[in-house]
Amino acid sequence: MLKTPVCDKLGIELPIVLGGMAGATTVDMVVAVSEAGGLGILGVTGLTGDQTREQIAAIKAATNRPFGINYLLFKIDEELYSKAIKECPPIVSLAWARPDQDLDTYFQKAHDADAKVIYMVGDVPEAVRAAEAGADVIVAQGTEGGGHVRSMSTLALVPMVVDAVKPCPVLAAGGIADGRGLAAALALGGEGALIGTRFLATNEAPLHKNHKEAIVKSSGHNTELTNVPDLISQSNWPGGGAARALQNDFINYWSDKKDFISKNAKTLNTEMLNARKAGEVDKTALLVGQNAGLIDSIEPIAKVIEQMAKQAEEIIAKRLPQFIC
Ligand SMILES: Cc1cc2nc3c(=O)[nH]c(=O)nc-3n(C[C@H](O)[C@H](O)[C@H](O)COP(=O)(O)O)c2cc1C
Repeated sequence: MLKTPVCDKLGIELPIVLGGMAGATTVDMVVAVSEAGGLGILGVTGLTGDQTREQIAAIKAATNRPFGINYLLFKIDEELYSKAIKECPPIVSLAWARPDQDLDTYFQKAHDADAKVIYMVGDVPEAVRAAEAGADVIVAQGTEGGGHVRSMSTLALVPMVVDAVKPCPVLAAGGIADGRGLAAALALGGEGALIGTRFLATNEAPLHKNHKEAIVKSSGHNTELTNVPDLISQSNWPGGGAARALQNDFINYWSDKKDFISKNAKTLNTEMLNARKAGEVDKTALLVGQNAGLIDSIEPIAKVIEQMAKQAEEIIAKRLPQFIC
């Protein structure tokens, strides 16, 4: 069985973590990942206090396993954060702080409630900042990933972060969709993987089936880093972070119309969100990683996790040892 030290630290069986994707994770997904032995994380950015409390309660009612909640720090509402922490999620996952935000304060609040803190970074200085503030686990997220990413690739970034924050455990994120990626994460010095896109093409994911099918159809070569969704939703990510999305008619059409977007953002945002809900995949932004090219079917989460762990185990136990003579 595949097990790394971070499993004991987080109280999980397998070093496979669901990225806390705001608007794209649900109670069902979190429960399915945690019940399969990984760590389910619910993205709660944008939820009201009541919604957050109800969803945490629903997860607790459905599983005794550890789970987490995720906040995008630059969008955080201090009062909602404090209230959510009081609901005692075992793990608090945070990402994308502004440079002026004091990580210690957020981490300490979680620690005071006996929660472990996972913090996601896209470069080494941010990893050092999080380690110094007392993060329990750091996620090194490469630019291959879906959603908002920085510019370093997973292959280069993970070992750099591992070296920079030792002995803090590191999870690799960005581009991992199967056991090969998980085994590679461990080879790079990581202790597991945090995964987004692969979990979007699952039965439990709350996306329209056309959106899931677009992931399956993608060769992985047709994604790009774009500011279009942020311009439309008027989100100001730290460092001007861009999002990795599928190249589609929507992104192509709006890429060179920034002035028009800024004058009509509110209407365009409503149209973008409605089109996503309706499964009109060419009229909206679909945040997806390059690993879409490794995803061939929509599966139940339990099956994805079982196969990923099995494949990683086979690579580590059978394929790699034969190269040592
Ligand atoms: C649709 C979508 C929404 C995301 N939202 C968040 C979020 O709210 N908070 C966060 O920490 N990461 C978020 N991420 C990033 C994931 O946590 C993770 O780092 C990324 O998906 C890993 O790359 P992969 O997609 O190649 O697995 C999001 C990713 C996607 C695809």
